[in-house]
Amino acid sequence: MTASAPSPSPTPLSPAETQALDQALAHWQAEPGGLLPALHVLQDELGFIPPATLPALAQAFGLSRAEVHGVITYYHHFRQTPPAHHCLGLCQAEACQARGARALTQQAQDLLQCTLGHTRSDHHWQLEAVSCLGLCASGPALMLDGTLHAQVDAQRLQALLAAVPTPPMESSS
Ligand code: FES
Repeated sequence: MTASAPSPSPTPLSPAETQALDQALAHWQAEPGGLLPALHVLQDELGFIPPATLPALAQAFGLSRAEVHGVITYYHHFRQTPPAHHCLGLCQAEACQARGARALTQQAQDLLQCTLGHTRSDHHWQLEAVSCLGLCASGPALMLDGTLHAQVDAQRLQALLAAVPTPPMESSS
């Protein structure tokens, strides 16, 4: 029998990542279907699921890394990169669309120089499409850093964003 090639050394986890992983596994490793709640613990603690935690998660739950990755990517809630400093979630559901969400989304993309569904390169803003914020009768609605806002028009969006302290985007030229 020949010796198998050594597997590449895993990326080291930061102390915070190690602590969050230990916490998640201590609570959920022995539970049937524990992977999902463990992922929630990681995301709640760190803001995202660090890719370096995949090998430990796979081993703990008796799955392959591909299976763990599949679960993470299946649920839009889970992030694989650190969140931006500020998050703007724009409702894209039907009732808000009927009340101008599309134009508001375009305005937000222009003001923040960021495309919906992405994080700006300087990591200060992320722009997310959300399906409904429960404010359908008073759309268009958005969530800015966890705070809901209803009946947002162009002027109000500009004021809301201007009130968030962010450095200007560096010019790429
Ligand atoms: S449709 Fe936008 S809040 Fe419900």
